[in-house]
Amino acid sequence: MRTQVAIIGSGPSGLLLGRLLTLAGIDNIIIDRVDREYILGRVRAGVLEQGMVNMMREAQASEKLDAEGLPHDGFEIALNGGLHHIDLHGLTGGKRVTIYGQTEVTRDLMDKREADGVTTIYDAQHVTPREFGGKNPWISYEKDGATHRIDADFIIGCDGFHGPSRKAVPPKAIETFERVYPFGWLGLLADVPPAAEELVYGKHARGFTLCSMRSKTRSRYYLQVPLTDQVENWSDDAFWDELRRRLPEQVADAVVTGPSFEKSIAPLRSFVAEPMRFGKLFLAGDAAHIVPPTGAKGLNLAASDIRYLFDGLREHYADKSPAGLNAYSERALARIWKAERFSWWMTTMLHTFAEDDAFGRRIHDAELSYTLSSVAARTALAENYVGLPY
Ligand code: APR
Ligand code: PHB
Repeated sequence: MRTQVAIIGSGPSGLLLGRLLTLAGIDNIIIDRVDREYILGRVRAGVLEQGMVNMMREAQASEKLDAEGLPHDGFEIALNGGLHHIDLHGLTGGKRVTIYGQTEVTRDLMDKREADGVTTIYDAQHVTPREFGGKNPWISYEKDGATHRIDADFIIGCDGFHGPSRKAVPPKAIETFERVYPFGWLGLLADVPPAAEELVYGKHARGFTLCSMRSKTRSRYYLQVPLTDQVENWSDDAFWDELRRRLPEQVADAVVTGPSFEKSIAPLRSFVAEPMRFGKLFLAGDAAHIVPPTGAKGLNLAASDIRYLFDGLREHYADKSPAGLNAYSERALARIWKAERFSWWMTTMLHTFAEDDAFGRRIHDAELSYTLSSVAARTALAENYVGLPY
């Protein structure tokens, strides 16, 4: 098999790039280790920056997003029994975010790809990028007991944090930066109306909480928990009790409980790999970087990577210019590091750290108290939350 652009990974990064390439008349194949239903079973975040919404429109895949996405002009920070409003719209000169689940983004892009009739290979094993340091890169994989090969002009690693693309790079050619946080997020999804109109990020001595939503009838809640906790030991009742304990009374009273249909514990990590290009192999999305979910930046960073990468590929094919591809890694990393900083800062400010001494606790409290009381600090928070410019 031969194609122009071979994409490993059928998550939002790979699918968005694939769709944009198809619309631009650039031939592409997507290959994934699992199948469509498995991918759509993953529960991920759902706060879209305007840049991501614009990308979905450019990909002509925004019908459902435009109809069902919930525009949010702000969010709340809960502290010491009170609520503090962050007026995103007012602080940023009219910007906002859109609530729309990553699962929905993925499904919408998969549906477009199916309608386009473009090749997608699911359930492929041992997918490996080969010879990307030379002129003729290719991918080997196994499926149905046979070994196959895809030859391509470029290989794009959109295969997430655990995928094979980054691992295929010689260790000497790549530098990684990492911070692992000493707690996890226990998430619960239920078909109950949200407790508040906007998202509520809560700081509490018992740990961080987040009240989020997927729609007006589906809520997503999170609790900071020790990494040693087992999800099996968290009954729904225990979750709802602990959630209400950590929230201000007015929000706690508005929590509508119901049976969960998803519950899981996720670790929190900051991670960046540099550079993001190795000859004919490019990394994008979670394959190159991870943020803790506190700033809701994971999906949005994948979108900005694809913005720069797609522009580079289009320039390569349409204008025969290597400039965009040559600039990709540097352009993407400049934005990634700012989102890494913001996500780390939100995480540090809003969580409780068991290893903090009394001084550290006071400093974190002062950071939050300053942010809430200063227009300049709230403006910086809002500017980052709605998304820095591409
Ligand atoms: N071979 C082929 N495909 C693979 C392999 C492999 N060995 N390993 C992983 N993949 C596939 C996964 O099955 C998945 O479908 O790569 C895809 C990666 O998708 P995501 O993890 O969703 O990553 P990305 O598309 O970059 O999306 C980033 O997802 O994790 C969230 O917070 C993150 O919102 C951000 C977004
Ligand atoms: C979510 O809805 O899952 C969500 C929202 C905001 C975040 C993280 C996760 O910061």
